[in-house]
Amino acid sequence: MKGVILAGGLGTRLYPLTHVTNKHLLPVYNKPMIFYPVETLVKSGIKDILVVVSGPHVGHFLGVLKNGKELGVNHLEYAYQEKPDGGIADALSLAEDFADGDSTTVILGDNTTDVDISDAIKSFSKGATVFLKQVSDPERFGVAYLDPSDSKKITKIVEKPKDGKSSYAITGLYIFDLKVFEYIKKCSPDWAGRGELEITQVIDFYLKTDDLHWEELKGFWRDAGTFETLLDVSNFWAGKIKESNE
Ligand code: TTP
Repeated sequence: MKGVILAGGLGTRLYPLTHVTNKHLLPVYNKPMIFYPVETLVKSGIKDILVVVSGPHVGHFLGVLKNGKELGVNHLEYAYQEKPDGGIADALSLAEDFADGDSTTVILGDNTTDVDISDAIKSFSKGATVFLKQVSDPERFGVAYLDPSDSKKITKIVEKPKDGKSSYAITGLYIFDLKVFEYIKKCSPDWAGRGELEITQVIDFYLKTDDLHWEELKGFWRDAGTFETLLDVSNFWAGKIKESNE
């Protein structure tokens, strides 16, 4: 199993902060944002990691992450996404050579969680596993609709739905087998009408081939991509550190 952190994008919702540096290097309480997904992977036993970067401040990543050794990474690689807003699936397409036939655990660079995903990684055999979390604002996310008669089954995936019929957000943590790269090549930027290659379309390919599995993320999870969530996430980690010092 290899690890991939997607830290491309432009971070426009955090302007003017992201005029100064890349979103994923901004502080979340006492650490750069990207340390959190790196630590989630390392904690789950994945120490071979690719970070996909893009945008005007890409050089800053090296200065912060260096070779990853301080964070327990054995092998750290970087890939450069030429179109910074090409979409999450476009960013992941750059991991094909790095994956080299292995499965990949993928985390969005602005996602933080305190959940240990080691068991899901150990039990993964094929297809895709997504981690769902019930949220009060599903219209901000890719959302999974569950079968009312068999909740282990996802029936539909919708990007930023407005119907309020499911509150299960697809979080930015995924496990994919090597088919993911085949599916990305079939993705269309028109799928959700945003001009991006959407990871939700990739997940939809797995759904259509009956190879999509899900687990509930039981614990804290949030992206830190807006001013409000950046503050929430920082407060969560500050509280966690305070708790552990008491
Ligand atoms: P988003 O928050 O959807 O996009 P963004 O980071 O560009 O921010 P904004 O919407 O404020 O402009 O992206 C979620 C994560 O996915 C982010 O941590 C980086 C990653 N990502 C890529 O790696 N490449 C991309 O092309 C996009 C759009 C996102």
